[in-house]
Amino acid sequence: MDSSMLPEQYKTLTNSEMKNRIHAIKEKLGEDLFIPGHHYQRDEVIQFADTVGDSLQLAQVAAANKKAKHIVFCGVHFMAETADMLTEDGQVVYLPDMRAGCSMADMANIYQTEEAWVELQKLFGDTIIPLTYVNSTAAIKAFTGRNGGACVTSSNAKTLVEWAFTQKERLFFLPDQHLGRNTAFDLGVPLDQMAIWNPIKGELEFEGDDIEQIKVILWKGHCSVHEGFTIYNIREVRKKYPDMNILVHPECSREVVALSDDFGSTKYICDVIDNAPAGSSWAIGTEMNLVKRLIANHPDKHIISLNENMCPCLTMNRIDLPHLLWALETIEHGKQGNVIEVDELTTQEAILSLNRMLQHSS
Ligand code: 13P
Ligand code: SF4
Repeated sequence: MDSSMLPEQYKTLTNSEMKNRIHAIKEKLGEDLFIPGHHYQRDEVIQFADTVGDSLQLAQVAAANKKAKHIVFCGVHFMAETADMLTEDGQVVYLPDMRAGCSMADMANIYQTEEAWVELQKLFGDTIIPLTYVNSTAAIKAFTGRNGGACVTSSNAKTLVEWAFTQKERLFFLPDQHLGRNTAFDLGVPLDQMAIWNPIKGELEFEGDDIEQIKVILWKGHCSVHEGFTIYNIREVRKKYPDMNILVHPECSREVVALSDDFGSTKYICDVIDNAPAGSSWAIGTEMNLVKRLIANHPDKHIISLNENMCPCLTMNRIDLPHLLWALETIEHGKQGNVIEVDELTTQEAILSLNRMLQHSS
């Protein structure tokens, strides 16, 4: 049997049995164990998280935690890699289900990225700085670090794009074209000064006459969850609920962001809803586990998903009670399974891009 797959004995346990066993292990391991949970995780997992946050907050708490020997990361693969790189050597990071990846991060591999960089240097010379969304592999963070660039999250993208323009004339933003486009547009870069790098064809897509006018080169990647919100959904909500506020994540397309009332990171969305007056109404364009939690936590507000047929992020959803219990019992029994370990050279270079990000984040 594949040792990264959930053993059979965890498939037939009742929820209360799993919960009791998880509580007992948490109690036993105390501060040796730390469980960070991303906002997009299932409620059944979030109830056991020691801290809940967006990708920036979880990177910050991982960097700050010097005590825990075992960090069981309830999120997706790139977040666990980031935690491994930001923690000390003696701290081990685990991902309860190794299949919890991110389809956006998978849209950029290091070979395509190096190839793109060579071509872009030929076209633009030494005028470009790379910025990579944290939703990317450690190898791409390392590429970014060794080429003078920084990581960004949806919470600090604006600050980092502003910083990047103080360093170089042009940005190479990967792998999410929408976050890159929405952020640069918000900072005043016109759409006709943005081009797309198509990694499948290995070519630049640009409709203007003069490539010298290009300021931002966007990797042709996207989030399949956030691309599921459309202008059709916006028209339907406006028709049905004319007074509703539409609030979306910047991984949504430019058209959707432009027609919404407001947009911002996962943390921004949570803060806006927390501070909204009772009786206000909201259609939210982000991941469904989070939207459902916002609905449950704010019974005094009318909250719906911008797309009522939206599903949770499938890879975030792979972490469930059986996988969490399995990861914790593996640790309890002194075995090593589902460990996320980034090699030393990659870490050294990736840390450069992560630290540049953390220095520019509050
Ligand atoms: P945040 O940076 O907002 O946590 O987002 C991570 C993510 O995967 C969004 O889809
Ligand atoms: Fe990746 Fe999108 Fe899921 Fe976030 S919501 S982890 S970007 S697939």
